[in-house]
Amino acid sequence: MQITKAVVPVAGLGTRLLPTTKAIPKEMLPVGRLPIIQHVVEELISAGIRHILFVSNRAKAAIENHLDDYSELMLHLELGRHEMQQVSRFDYRGRGVDFYFTRQQVPVGETKPLGTGDAVAAAASFVNNEPFVVAYGDSIIGHGEGPSLLQRMLASHEGHSAACTIAVQEVPQERVHQYGIVVPAEGEPEGDCRIVDLLEKPAPNQTPSRLASSARYVFGPEVFTELRSVTPSPSGEIYLTDAIVRLIEHGRMVRAVKLQAGEQRYDIGNHRAYFRTFVDFALADPELGPDLAAYLKLKLA
Ligand code: UTP
Repeated sequence: MQITKAVVPVAGLGTRLLPTTKAIPKEMLPVGRLPIIQHVVEELISAGIRHILFVSNRAKAAIENHLDDYSELMLHLELGRHEMQQVSRFDYRGRGVDFYFTRQQVPVGETKPLGTGDAVAAAASFVNNEPFVVAYGDSIIGHGEGPSLLQRMLASHEGHSAACTIAVQEVPQERVHQYGIVVPAEGEPEGDCRIVDLLEKPAPNQTPSRLASSARYVFGPEVFTELRSVTPSPSGEIYLTDAIVRLIEHGRMVRAVKLQAGEQRYDIGNHRAYFRTFVDFALADPELGPDLAAYLKLKLA
């Protein structure tokens, strides 16, 4: 069965990017010529996804507006003979893609949403017993040659009848404490392997591997049963990783597919990451990249 549904959590507060993110969703920050969320959408569409649910909140209406048809603007551009390639690019309906929106509620008495696990749990009726992709709305996967990371994940997930397939990237030992780190089964190839555990932020001197969970997942619908039984963290959050650990404990096949050379995960959670990501994408712009490179050279001389 071809996987055509994706869930994109975008309901976080984006506190590390304040004050910009007070009124602008972090997922709407421009990276090169597109807001982050549109890079994510294009990645999903390239991998065959056609139904995309955004789990958002009342502060994120700009995402909904951005992906709206806005047919009068399209007509205006067409009549003005703007470059048609540019115009058709935003005709998602014409490309057979549907967007859906739901909201992650903040429970009474809480000040923030209850984590990515809680956001994914809000997608149960949309998913309706099918396998589906989860893509964090603040992370872009820069791609290299050949099939994309998500295409490889989908092929692996289906080929192994997995319950969950996680994207992983190799991170330096001294940074493992910032990530969920997977433990591959012995003797499995590192690029696409079964995993036997997932540790949340291990100490660098105690880490079983350097493969960090990386913002893209494929799940079977059984993850919702696990999400319902996860014990919330001391701060009340429901972690997606805890549901994955429960799948492993229940003997389900959980796998990891590694980012290849030439692929890069951009997790745009703080200003340093945002500046660097913007520069990478602006420098890669076919038309304006060389101009920016010359400008930066001049500034740094
Ligand atoms: P992050 O934890 O990186 O984003 O979540 P955040 O919570 O917005 O960031 P800070 O820590 O306050 O700066 C990764 C993705 O998951 C979404 C976020 O919007 C982001 O796209 N998310 C996070 C939810 O949808 N719900 C949540 O409860 C938490």
